[in-house]
Amino acid sequence: MKKFFIFLSICSLTLAQQKTIEERVDSVLALMTPIEKIGQLNQYSGGFDTGTKTADLKTGKNQLIREGKIGSLLNVIGANATRKIQKVAVEESRLKIPIIFGLDVIHGFKTTFPIPLAEASSWDPELAEKTARYAAMEASAAGIHWTFAPMVDIARDPRWGRIAEGSGEDPYLGSLFAAARVKGFQGNFSSNKNIAACVKHFAAYGAAEGGRDYNTVDISERTLREIYLKPFKAAVDAGAVTLMCSFNEIAGVPSSANKFLLTKILRDEWKFDGFVVSDWNSIGELIPHGIAKDLMEAAELGINAGVDMDMQANAYITSLDELVKEGKVSQSRIDESVKRILKLKFRLGLFDNPYKYCDSLREKKTIQSREMLDVALEAARNSIVLLKNEKNLLPLKKDLKRIAVIGPLADSKRDPLGPWNQQRQPDLVVTVVEGIKKKLGNSEIIYAEGCKITDTSKSSFPEAIEAAKNSDAVVLCLGESLFMSGEAHSSASLNLPGVQEYLAKEIVRTGKPVVAVLMNGRPLTINWLSQNVDAIVEAWFLGTESGDAIADVLFGDFNPCGKLPVTFPRSTGQIPLYYNHKNTGRPYSHQNRFSSNYQDLDNSPLYPFGFGLGYTTFSYSNLQLINDRLQKGEPLKVSIDLKNTGERPGVEIVQLYIRGITGSVTRPVKELKDFAKVSLLPGESKKVEFEVDTEKLKFYDIDMNYRLEPGEFKVLIGTNSENLLESPFSVVE
Ligand code: GLC
Repeated sequence: MKKFFIFLSICSLTLAQQKTIEERVDSVLALMTPIEKIGQLNQYSGGFDTGTKTADLKTGKNQLIREGKIGSLLNVIGANATRKIQKVAVEESRLKIPIIFGLDVIHGFKTTFPIPLAEASSWDPELAEKTARYAAMEASAAGIHWTFAPMVDIARDPRWGRIAEGSGEDPYLGSLFAAARVKGFQGNFSSNKNIAACVKHFAAYGAAEGGRDYNTVDISERTLREIYLKPFKAAVDAGAVTLMCSFNEIAGVPSSANKFLLTKILRDEWKFDGFVVSDWNSIGELIPHGIAKDLMEAAELGINAGVDMDMQANAYITSLDELVKEGKVSQSRIDESVKRILKLKFRLGLFDNPYKYCDSLREKKTIQSREMLDVALEAARNSIVLLKNEKNLLPLKKDLKRIAVIGPLADSKRDPLGPWNQQRQPDLVVTVVEGIKKKLGNSEIIYAEGCKITDTSKSSFPEAIEAAKNSDAVVLCLGESLFMSGEAHSSASLNLPGVQEYLAKEIVRTGKPVVAVLMNGRPLTINWLSQNVDAIVEAWFLGTESGDAIADVLFGDFNPCGKLPVTFPRSTGQIPLYYNHKNTGRPYSHQNRFSSNYQDLDNSPLYPFGFGLGYTTFSYSNLQLINDRLQKGEPLKVSIDLKNTGERPGVEIVQLYIRGITGSVTRPVKELKDFAKVSLLPGESKKVEFEVDTEKLKFYDIDMNYRLEPGEFKVLIGTNSENLLESPFSVVE
């Protein structure tokens, strides 16, 4: 008889496994009360309370969890901390529905990888997939199921502090990184090392007027679709299971109440079947936006537009029950959101094992392992962009007797972590001073801070000048603090903060060879540096392994190969300044005053999109098209000969742009459509071949149909968005 019952239980288990997730979701939904359903749509911050006041975690929230009124918590961290709360949910509530724990794991959890803007400089989506995968391993070991990442906002305005969190100004590059990070975080949800991604901020948050965070966005639907939505679509196509809507309005409609965005585009066009979480209290912000008179109306607008989960506004949990009774919100609309959320909890395996991510032994073993740090070093090296190298000053010789390492960022352990460093682990950060000391055992390294990052005191200049005078070469580390970019850190000026440029002038005046190392979260208007310093390395914020990666590049143990994912303007007066701009009816011309220009500044960028040098040089020649008259559907096959014309091995990111000469609407002067990372030895040549699917030539025509228009085009290939060889081709019906 016992065998029979064992047999029965195995059958029922396999039956349960054979029941699809949808069937299991429906069976849970059928048991839920209206309040328990709304509870799944309610998310609070567990670690700290700002904004809407809710009871603290110890008393209020645990009781709310027992009553089934919380579906998710963010900012609760650690295998033990999450286990404790999960226990309340799955042992003390009526239906025992597990909590999903979310956290901003943007570029690493305890091991910090380069900020996303830095990582985009590698032009290596596979690398981004890898760092996302490792970040997921670390975060999941600390009980985290879900990250509010990747942030995929296109940014054409470096005044906007959150440019640091994204992949720059280009939709094609941004789309590749968006998809890569989704795959890296989520894997195939096969293990407790995968976490759910949350693609943010939907949408066009980076188009804020004036580059001021949270500010109005007013762009055409064509620009919205052609530029800002592209990375989101790529992320959804890559299988992203959640999105986060943004704080901003678009042309009068805040994203958190934007049915066009959240239902027509996301659901009807893209067939997205995951769920949308609001940004922090963004439902509540519909009141100051001026489209909701109170929290109840805000809740009605949010749920009916398509926001499934309310982060921290306390709107859904306090209003939806009443709104259903008043007939303003349908029960079916709420059920739809509940099912989307329950589905993810099933996919994460939380119903089968709510403590799947609560293994404190695994937490100890995984976090900041040597393997993690090696990945951090690889990512940091590849994220560095060499902007200038006069007289081939770099790489520096390792037998230099004395090296002065000067500047407010030279020995900072905190700033290389960048604005979204999750667990604030400065003790593990390798500073530039430490990295150079580790590399050059026999040289004397003289460190002098010189000045603070923003302070205007020059009192420490003499010591820095003395250090420079007594050295054979100077490494001058300048830039921003980690608190100067990221959320709520927009800047009206892009100049080096404080008195850093004055310090640079004093150090250059000593006549010593000077390498400037920039550590920053956004492009800066470094005009004086670019004219007067021998070499400039853009290091962004590289995370835990910052100093080792910078030292590797400075002394030639790694050949810099990064390319800018964003334009460096000469002045904030030029902003917005981006490479894929329109031609206008009066294209800029030196000869014609009546062309689109400034009377007081050259139109061109300080450093263009795609710019980056290496320790060798490359020549481009012999651009060839297999066929320059393409039938519709026929791919463009093009090649170029690339040669390493220098004395060192090097990696070149060969970039391919396309221009549509005419169209039913105006077209950008060029658009990145492909690139190839090519490694060549000195003197070595390679025919680099591309095959461009004409699908990539489609755009939204005069009637907003997404299609390819036959006509004349140009293909442009080269080392950056301005230095290109070009050849015409046409697409015929
Ligand atoms: C913040 C950010 C968002 C983040 C969320 C939760 O305000 O806008 O990117 O994921 O709140 O921390």
